[in-house]
Amino acid sequence: MRQIKVGVIGFGTVGMGTVKALWNQKEEIEKELGVGVKVVKIVDKEWMIGRPMVVPPDIKSSDPSEVIDDPEIEIVVEAMGGIDPAFDYVSQALARGKTVITPNKELIAKKGRELFQLSAENETDVYFEGAVGGGIPIIHTLKEQLLGDDILEVIGIVNGTTNYILSEMSLRKTSFEKALEDAKRKGFAEPIPTNDVEGYDSTYKIAILATLCFHGRVDVEKVYREGITRILTDDIEYARELGYTIKLLAIARRIGEDIELRVQPVLLPLSHPLSTVFGVENAIYVRSRTRDLTFRGPGAGGDATGSAMVGDIIDAIRNIKYEARGRVGCTCMRDLTVLPMES
Ligand code: HSE
Repeated sequence: MRQIKVGVIGFGTVGMGTVKALWNQKEEIEKELGVGVKVVKIVDKEWMIGRPMVVPPDIKSSDPSEVIDDPEIEIVVEAMGGIDPAFDYVSQALARGKTVITPNKELIAKKGRELFQLSAENETDVYFEGAVGGGIPIIHTLKEQLLGDDILEVIGIVNGTTNYILSEMSLRKTSFEKALEDAKRKGFAEPIPTNDVEGYDSTYKIAILATLCFHGRVDVEKVYREGITRILTDDIEYARELGYTIKLLAIARRIGEDIELRVQPVLLPLSHPLSTVFGVENAIYVRSRTRDLTFRGPGAGGDATGSAMVGDIIDAIRNIKYEARGRVGCTCMRDLTVLPMES
């Protein structure tokens, strides 16, 4: 049986979740695809004692070039986050014809154009199911299943940390600071939590969703953004007395040929379906000309996101096996105009 070798760069919550899910499902995947799959190298900055996962010493490394320069590794999982040095590593891997699987929303939102171009030039692929909605299979659904539909609007709770904070403030009267500390401890929050609480993480995610829904590229810097740092427990309490809750929503709407894109805290009636999305859960509502759909599930966390990443690995293996790589790129897209928003 042919063996496909996988290298992992970045072994935090999502890297570990991916390897764990792959090892758990290895037998089923191999039986289904008729191809062997093996993690041959895992790279992390430092290998501290006491990690929750045991990794055989011979596959541990601290040197990304052991993955990028290994001609036998066909699939690279990038789970470092951020742009620098992830962009360099992913670019080098694509230039060497490797398939890349990444949950890195900032990388896809800001550098997607260059990466898709590079993957097309090198007849390979970039997959990013874990980048939005963690464990909700929304990327594949928009790219494949809903490609034939005419999408008008997408509204999401796409950041688990802020939804967790707002939920704790609302349900348990917990302070903002304590709820954020909890989110950090549970591993949902970004390494720089400003990215969560000031709404940047949600801007990356809505930019990615808008590109898939409206078949064009958007400039992530043009997404109107307001975070949740100015919201007080009292605000949530007053909202509740009036029959509302406060949620950080990411909204993309088509207006003629242009797009309205914003991330902001919104007063939602308690009767609204998104008002019952609590904790780290995410939800994404899609309205098309033919239907209204709501996707809901875990928005972060190693197990859920790791499982989404393994879904991408399975797609990647199929494309490698049937020599169909390089056919899913988004290289011929036009640029969409994002309408200016007033605060
Ligand atoms: N910090 C992100 C969140 C992680 O809280 O949703 C998943 O992208």
